[in-house]
Amino acid sequence: MDDRNVTVIGLQWGDEGKGKIVDALAERARYVVRYCGGANAGHTVTVGPERYALHLIPSGILHAGVGNVVGNGVAFDPPEALGEIAGLRERGVSVGPENLHVCSAANVVMPWHKAADRLSEEALGSGRLGTTARGIGPCYADKATRSTAVRVGDLLDADALGEKVRRIAKVKNATFAALYGAEPMDAEAIVEEYAACGCELAPMVTNTGAMLRRAIAAGEPICFEGGQGSLLDIDHGTFPFVTSSAVTACGVPTGAGVPPSAVGRVVGVIKAYTTRVGAGPFPAEQDNEVGERIRERGKEYGTTTGRPRRCGWFDAVAARYTADLSGVDELALVLLDVLSGFERVRVCTGYRVDGRDVEGFDPAGSDFARAECVYEELDGWDGEITEARTFEALPASARTYVEFIESLMGRPVGIISVGPDRSQTIMHHTALGRL
Ligand code: GDP
Ligand code: IMO
Ligand code: MG
Repeated sequence: MDDRNVTVIGLQWGDEGKGKIVDALAERARYVVRYCGGANAGHTVTVGPERYALHLIPSGILHAGVGNVVGNGVAFDPPEALGEIAGLRERGVSVGPENLHVCSAANVVMPWHKAADRLSEEALGSGRLGTTARGIGPCYADKATRSTAVRVGDLLDADALGEKVRRIAKVKNATFAALYGAEPMDAEAIVEEYAACGCELAPMVTNTGAMLRRAIAAGEPICFEGGQGSLLDIDHGTFPFVTSSAVTACGVPTGAGVPPSAVGRVVGVIKAYTTRVGAGPFPAEQDNEVGERIRERGKEYGTTTGRPRRCGWFDAVAARYTADLSGVDELALVLLDVLSGFERVRVCTGYRVDGRDVEGFDPAGSDFARAECVYEELDGWDGEITEARTFEALPASARTYVEFIESLMGRPVGIISVGPDRSQTIMHHTALGRL
């Protein structure tokens, strides 16, 4: 294992606070690398009064001297990325070929992918997946189809792009008309828009896998930034209510073009409770005043879509499953401050199916929708903890809560976060000093 590197992943259903943790670790990295997902991600970094919601740009962008890489595994949306870059520049953040690198092999989210995402969800009605409507699933579907895929490198040759877009648009227009009675898309307008995006992006487009392998050979530290959460993984999540890429630490080698040994130390980010956006099973959900209180205190509304997030207690069974899946070395426990003020707090420590306790239950199995949680109850704590900067400064019952989670998860809590700001971070049992 390459001890210089770190991989930060979410262990729940996304929005665990990965952006905040990656930003905190990025100052020690030479590169911060996105390897999965696309603009369905919304990673928040807060520094003083400034709050940045990043979708395609990696969360190392605020640190001078860090190269931010959009790897080959990302579903890349050029107009969205250029909009994000412009927004950052307006706020005084420099973004350019010196600190942003987009892989020529990344697949492009085209307008027909967003249309397909929307039309398919509408057609599914109450059976919809609740996607972010960013065209992610259809983009990866075309990646697997191959003949209907567009890659970032294709944007750089306007003539070849024109031919490709006209051919694919013909197929998509016929399909959408037949399936949904949709109006045809204007292929020429798409060629023009995406070729212009290609011109703007060209200085930042490169073979990022080769670049990262050179960095590894030179001993430069890399931080891999996961998107989504492991329970949304295409293979290991709560299928079919998942996203369409490999989001665990196991997705790093293919999504970034590096050997498995480059994954380095794996940090699993967990909220002190659980949230989920979109449809799908969620046994620890509290569709009641507990969930509402968590939503209000934690401002649990989607960073990408603004949808209210479904909230519930911490599910240690599901999080332990995903931690084991990625071989998580240490945990980052985030949003602990949100639980302040509950008289009692609960943690799901087991499942019951059809009234019977079940052992070795697979949270990604088809029975998951029938699982009921078995809870352990602990004392809550009073008062705000947002000013705490050491573990010892936390109330005794908050410390007990952290230790209980460590014991259930079978690994140490390295970092504790008690507020959105970069400074509201407690370095606890972390071994990341070595990064
Ligand atoms: P990500 O997708 O995993 O990067 O997470 P999001 O940014 O979508 O959601 C996490 C939210 O929690 C953001 O609004 C963060 O600013 C906020 N946040 C992060 N850490 C903390 C924390 O420790 N306490 C509180 N109150 N908010 C936090
Ligand atoms: P970050 O990186 C939370 C969810 C969607 C939906 C499902 C499929 O910010 O943690 P998709 O658009 O990917 O086809 O939607 O996955 N989802 C996320 N939920 N955080 C995310 O990213 C998500 N990315 C996708 O809500 O349920
Ligand atoms: Mg998010």
